[in-house]
Amino acid sequence: MKGIVLAGGLGTRLFPLTKITNKHLLPIYNKPMIYYPIEMMVDAGIRDILIVTGGKNAGDFLRLLGNGKEFGLDHINYAYQEGEGGIAAALSLAEFFADRKPVCVILGDNIFEHSIAEYVENFKKQGSGARILLKEVPDPQRFGVPEIRDDKIVRIVEKPENPDSRYAVTGVYMYDPDVFEFIKTLKPSKRGELEITDVNNCYIEKGRMRYDIMDGWWTDAGTFESLLRASNLVRRNFEEK
Ligand code: DAU
Repeated sequence: MKGIVLAGGLGTRLFPLTKITNKHLLPIYNKPMIYYPIEMMVDAGIRDILIVTGGKNAGDFLRLLGNGKEFGLDHINYAYQEGEGGIAAALSLAEFFADRKPVCVILGDNIFEHSIAEYVENFKKQGSGARILLKEVPDPQRFGVPEIRDDKIVRIVEKPENPDSRYAVTGVYMYDPDVFEFIKTLKPSKRGELEITDVNNCYIEKGRMRYDIMDGWWTDAGTFESLLRASNLVRRNFEEK
């Protein structure tokens, strides 16, 4: 399985923190944000990793991460996203890298308490289709929200005003190689982006989506509130060890 960390976008919700740097280089407690999804991948046994980034500070990723020695890697791949076309647009840049192998995608601003190794194993056993991770949250309207009937996801709605469940779709997505064909069929959403939720709905419509409910805490870090929460959660874990 290949790993893709998506770290593009403009981080406008964190302005002016992101005026002169990329969101994923900001600190979460004692490390830059981008370290966490990379460590998650490596912990799950994924060693062939692509970082997709963009903006004016893309070169800083190379200076920070180099060839991945700090993570026990001897190579990291990089791709550059022009503009902010959405998560699915960033993922489409990984088609060449993926080389028709299954992929595990992690959003660069997602921070997790526990390993995702078990869920990656579940996807390997699944063999094809897609797999996502859900987490119960107090504010589902900020996320992609699944509608679940008889334990099956029937649809995901992006940032619904009236969420159908208490679950958020977290930023870990596992796909078979068909994902790149699905992305080519997408149209930009109301916010002008190619949405990962539309990709996931393609798999759901074909009956090829499975899910796990994630253990431990999970947060994004793309707003002032969640950036602070992420640091506090990481610090708490650090102190408990
Ligand atoms: O965090 C989980 C949520 O992430 C999901 O529940 C939503 O369904 C999904 O759409 C996404 O929602 P956000 O609106 O919070 O995504 P955001 O625009 O903050 O982008 C999240 C990460 O995706 C960002 O840290 C880097 C990457 N990204 C995003 C965009 C828009 C890119 O690489 N390129 C992009 O153009």
